[in-house]
Amino acid sequence: MGGAIAIGLEKSGFIAAANIFVSDRKESTLEKFKELGINTFQNNLDAVKNADIIIAAVKPYHIEGVINEIKPVLNPDKIFISIVAGVGIEELGEMAGADIPIFRVMPNTAIALQESLTCISANGNCAEHREFVVEMFDQLGKTVEIGEELMAAATVLSSCGIAYALRYIRAAMQGGIEIGFGAEMAQLITAQTVKGATELVLQSGNHPEREIDKVTTPRGVTITGLNEMEHKGFSSSLIQGIMASYNKIDN
Ligand SMILES: NC(=O)c1ccc[n+]([C@@H]2O[C@H](COP(=O)([O-])OP(=O)(O)OC[C@H]3O[C@@H](n4cnc5c(N)ncnc54)[C@H](OP(=O)(O)O)[C@@H]3O)[C@@H](O)[C@H]2O)c1
Repeated sequence: MGGAIAIGLEKSGFIAAANIFVSDRKESTLEKFKELGINTFQNNLDAVKNADIIIAAVKPYHIEGVINEIKPVLNPDKIFISIVAGVGIEELGEMAGADIPIFRVMPNTAIALQESLTCISANGNCAEHREFVVEMFDQLGKTVEIGEELMAAATVLSSCGIAYALRYIRAAMQGGIEIGFGAEMAQLITAQTVKGATELVLQSGNHPEREIDKVTTPRGVTITGLNEMEHKGFSSSLIQGIMASYNKIDN
């Protein structure tokens, strides 16, 4: 995720490669960044020393260690952004210092294609930085600002949501194969169809059911299939799955 953010910001031209500093423990991980002209470090403190904005993208069990390493150079003039799932702003503040501007950000894996849906929340020290941070993540897809109390819900709907949507694509492909297409063609037809459906909603702002009305003829083929899916629990299973993921985060 961290690498995708660095590369996305470089590709978008929002931040020049010379102004991006990437740190990872493994030299092999850093190779592709070097090739783009991005500065690379195997020491976190060296990487963040001269940075105005720090993005932490390690697993949750590494965040405390990383913050302790860089703490000597953290100050209220630097913006600290965490994409670490499940670690709250208050907890981050206890580790980094209560006076540090801290953003908690939840992207999804489509950030690798600059197509993320990224949810952003912040602590009370961030007012003057909010616009810039939102603009930065706008380079990597779409962003929404939310209250931190919605971060678990955002994690489910956006980060887990990628997997739910992919599972729909896989299931539709399997149906497609049964009605006559080879796997590759079923994948292309299904994926492009989902992309088209997504764009219909995103570009028009219409409720999905309004777009569905346009393809459902009375007594027709589409409504017959849709109703059969609903009889088998399509919407209900999705809602229950989302609730199960959400309840799992809370526990
Ligand atoms: N994947 C998602 O959909 C998603 C969505 C939203 C948020 N997140 C959050 O994003 C964070 C990163 O997830 P990920 O999937 O990108 O994990 P990842 O692939 O494991 O990436 C973490 C990177 O951090 C490096 N690292 C570990 N400890 C380090 C240290 N002390 N100093 C410098 N680098 C260090 C790791 O290097 P090594 O290989 O050497 O360990 C690895 O390259 C997680 O906290 C996750 O909760 C993920």
